[in-house]
Amino acid sequence: MDANDYTQIKASIKRSFNIDLEHYKDEQMKRRLDSWLVRTHIETWKDYFHLLATDGKELERFRNYLTINVTEFFRDPSRWDLVRQEILPYLIKSSKENHQIGGLKLWSAGCSIGTEAYTMAIMMDESAPTQKYSILATDLDRGALAKARARGPYNEEDIRGLSQPQRRKYLTAAAPHHAVESLQKHINFQEQNLIADRFDTGFDLIVCRNVVIYFTAETKDKLYAKFSAALRPGGVLFVGGTEIISGASKFGLQNFGISFYKKA
Ligand SMILES: C[S@@+](CC[C@H](N)C(=O)[O-])C[C@H]1O[C@@H](n2cnc3c(N)ncnc32)[C@H](O)[C@@H]1O
Repeated sequence: MDANDYTQIKASIKRSFNIDLEHYKDEQMKRRLDSWLVRTHIETWKDYFHLLATDGKELERFRNYLTINVTEFFRDPSRWDLVRQEILPYLIKSSKENHQIGGLKLWSAGCSIGTEAYTMAIMMDESAPTQKYSILATDLDRGALAKARARGPYNEEDIRGLSQPQRRKYLTAAAPHHAVESLQKHINFQEQNLIADRFDTGFDLIVCRNVVIYFTAETKDKLYAKFSAALRPGGVLFVGGTEIISGASKFGLQNFGISFYKKA
């Protein structure tokens, strides 16, 4: 695809989905788009956008592909062990010292089909059952959010991080599995574009994992500054396994172990 094609495709994607690919790394996104067109067996992007204008299902498939919503319960289990053993006790203790009312304020930013938010609810139920808390879970992908709100269905890949006792307790018995209703009562799923939209404030924990990997460096920087402003002092940002915030201190963030940053 040449630069001209890419400019036109970006404009069509912005019109159709309100997703601005200016914020995503060009080379990766071009490769992703090229391989999608090959899969559709359609010759040109012009023909493909004609198809999208009349085929709602294809439009939804393409949107899902663009937003890359791969996820699973307890993704990177060793990181979640750290949240359970170290981050959560620290947050509970420090939020009491700050006299936080209303309990812990948690956010799954880029929550996809909800597995991350339900992981947080399971962890709270298992590790801090008397602690009050709320979870905001946001994504720009409406299809993913609809599945999150419906609590599934989740396939074997999605749930492989759950032990048998966790499956018995937190999933419906019959396949295809859904998360049980009681997990959802603390979670508020909302549509949100992390790049364009404003954030709420006062969060104890923001979990934003495997979302920014395709963002440009400049867009990442703006997002980290927004996350820092959204955290309460001493609040923690939990990022993906391969993600490092370079120059974290310029956003008022301190390294707090691999994958964790604390607001100074
Ligand atoms: C690979 S999934 C990660 C899901 C989950 N955080 C995890 O690690 O398992 C990335 C999610 O980020 C969402 N996303 C990408 N760009 C976004 C944006 N600008 N605003 C909000 N969500 C975005 C996608 O829709 C997708 O659901």
